[in-house]
Amino acid sequence: MLDLAPAKVAAAEAPLGPPPVSYVGSLFGKLLAAAYRVTGKDRYDDFRLERVAGVPILVIPSVFNPKVPRTGEFLARQVCAERVAPQAEVLDLGTGSGVGAVFAALCARRVVAVDINPAAVRCAALNARLNQLEDKIDVREGDLFAPVAGERFDLVLFNPPFLRGTPRDDRDRAWRSSDLAERFAAGLGAHLKPGGTAFLLLSSFGDAQWFLTQLQAHRYAISVLAERRYINETLRVFRVAPQRTELSP
Ligand SMILES: C[S@@+](CC[C@H](N)C(=O)[O-])C[C@H]1O[C@@H](n2cnc3c(N)ncnc32)[C@H](O)[C@@H]1O
Repeated sequence: MLDLAPAKVAAAEAPLGPPPVSYVGSLFGKLLAAAYRVTGKDRYDDFRLERVAGVPILVIPSVFNPKVPRTGEFLARQVCAERVAPQAEVLDLGTGSGVGAVFAALCARRVVAVDINPAAVRCAALNARLNQLEDKIDVREGDLFAPVAGERFDLVLFNPPFLRGTPRDDRDRAWRSSDLAERFAAGLGAHLKPGGTAFLLLSSFGDAQWFLTQLQAHRYAISVLAERRYINETLRVFRVAPQRTELSP
């Protein structure tokens, strides 16, 4: 169902491994994040109307802002008509504001958006309605793949929490998780249709290697679909698909 023409996956030739960032860049990123928190510019715990590539996205308190940091926007921008067939069924895991679900619904037939944070579920539903896509986006509350038990998709989108650790509250679930890499790698295959794939966003700001190691342990084929380097952070969208075996059709 996905049309990943060679030209579109040219970035797949980039070396695999955690996104690179210099020590100075990483320190700068941490200082910037601290400054955002101190000045209240981290755009959390507030109502914000953002524009992501011109698409209005409302962000409500305790929900991850897709523009600060810029991961949600970067992943959403990869979900374009050239990569997703009109008949595709998409799962947006950890949907947050629903930004990935909205972008997917602009080109796919149906999207299921899942989040464990009830505020994110409300926010994603609001954004589906704001963009007149509520007929295509089905928002469900729950833990990772639990709300889609037995269902398979052509594309799974995931911008996971960056850091490894126990989340303090629902808001912190956007940043920290204890075992999501293990559970995502273990569960993904059962939720992909034949030929299906996942777009996974990893930032140098977090523990990217944790996710890659788990996916490699489950023998997925992993390549870099898109990369953006900033002074303090490198973002990569990885394309993750089950390895084709000799018995694969
Ligand atoms: C980094 S944010 C990404 C939000 C959005 N997809 C975006 O790109 O802007 C991670 C999201 O995953 C959600 N999340 C964390 N743990 C989860 C779990 N076990 N099951 C479902 N969603 C989870 C968080 O609530 C948060 O909304």
